[in-house]
Amino acid sequence: MSTDTVWFRPPPRPSHTPQPPEQPEPASVDLTIDGQAVRVPADWTILQACGSLGIDTPTLCYLENLTPVNVCRICVVELAGARTLVPACSRVVEPGMDIRTDSPRVRLSRKMVLEFLGSSVDLSTAPQAQAYAARYGACPERYGQPHAPSGPGERDAREPGHHHAPDGSAAETVAQPVKVDNDLYIRDYGKCILCYKCVEACGTDAQNTFAIAVAGRGFDARISTEGNVPLPDSACVYCGNCIGVCPTGALMFRSEFELRKQGQWDESRQTRTDTICPYCGVGCTLSLHVQDNRIVKVTSPLDVEVTHGHLCIKGRFGFEFVHGGDLKADANPEG
Ligand code: SF4
Ligand code: SF4
Ligand code: FES
Repeated sequence: MSTDTVWFRPPPRPSHTPQPPEQPEPASVDLTIDGQAVRVPADWTILQACGSLGIDTPTLCYLENLTPVNVCRICVVELAGARTLVPACSRVVEPGMDIRTDSPRVRLSRKMVLEFLGSSVDLSTAPQAQAYAARYGACPERYGQPHAPSGPGERDAREPGHHHAPDGSAAETVAQPVKVDNDLYIRDYGKCILCYKCVEACGTDAQNTFAIAVAGRGFDARISTEGNVPLPDSACVYCGNCIGVCPTGALMFRSEFELRKQGQWDESRQTRTDTICPYCGVGCTLSLHVQDNRIVKVTSPLDVEVTHGHLCIKGRFGFEFVHGGDLKADANPEG
């Protein structure tokens, strides 16, 4: 083809507007859930199919902006013909599935998961887990008195293969001192249910920073920075996306932590206002949580197409500039 053809004699304009290629109709699947026949897209999960029927399936490690990791097993349902219960959050629907979401076996399994969590983890700032525990009649107290908390750094030093089985006189727990090593957020792993959400958000699902991962094995498994270094020495860039997805309050804004410590945190006095982050052209949606005319934390709605609830350090923590100083110091005039 000569240069003349390309640059000086363009082909005639098409006689019709170009159309995108035709998309095939998405395949659908017929299945039965709790005796109700339902037809859903073939790439849906059981969780989505249940949702389309208005069935409220409990989830802890699942979040719509993260890849399912299937670790909490609270969402399990009974599938006819399957040996084990299946996780609704990640199992894709198949033709002819016959699913029961509220059978005695399902209820017992969910109850036991909640009891194991409730006996070993502090769920005091996890309202969703508390509501599930009430729904399924979980009774963590039947595992006995909680074991004494671990000392500073004790759990972090445990190595695989060095675990000693407890003597059964008390319920083993993950209770330990809160990690406060920076001005922006705290890590209270006595409240961690090991849902992996923070690891996912720090990794390929959002931030691609990989500052945290799961260390240890079995009951000693815990979320850790590389080599258990303090956050300021780690790869953390303080986007706070881990806080945004944490379902238990194990990861918490320092501002919220300080207000709670002073007994001043009161969600009934808080308002939430959506606005646009002014710091750069991405234009993320910020939800400002305001108490007593002060911004106390910033989140972002999950259903925003651009960032799916994730932010960077400026949007997440830059609110402190609105108050012209250090929010922690302001929140605690004595301290
Ligand atoms: S810190 Fe929070 S988000 Fe991370 S694993 Fe624990 S409970 Fe899940
Ligand atoms: S949160 Fe960060 S990426 Fe989003 S608009 Fe603000 S500065 Fe830009
Ligand atoms: S929500 Fe399905 S395994 Fe956790």
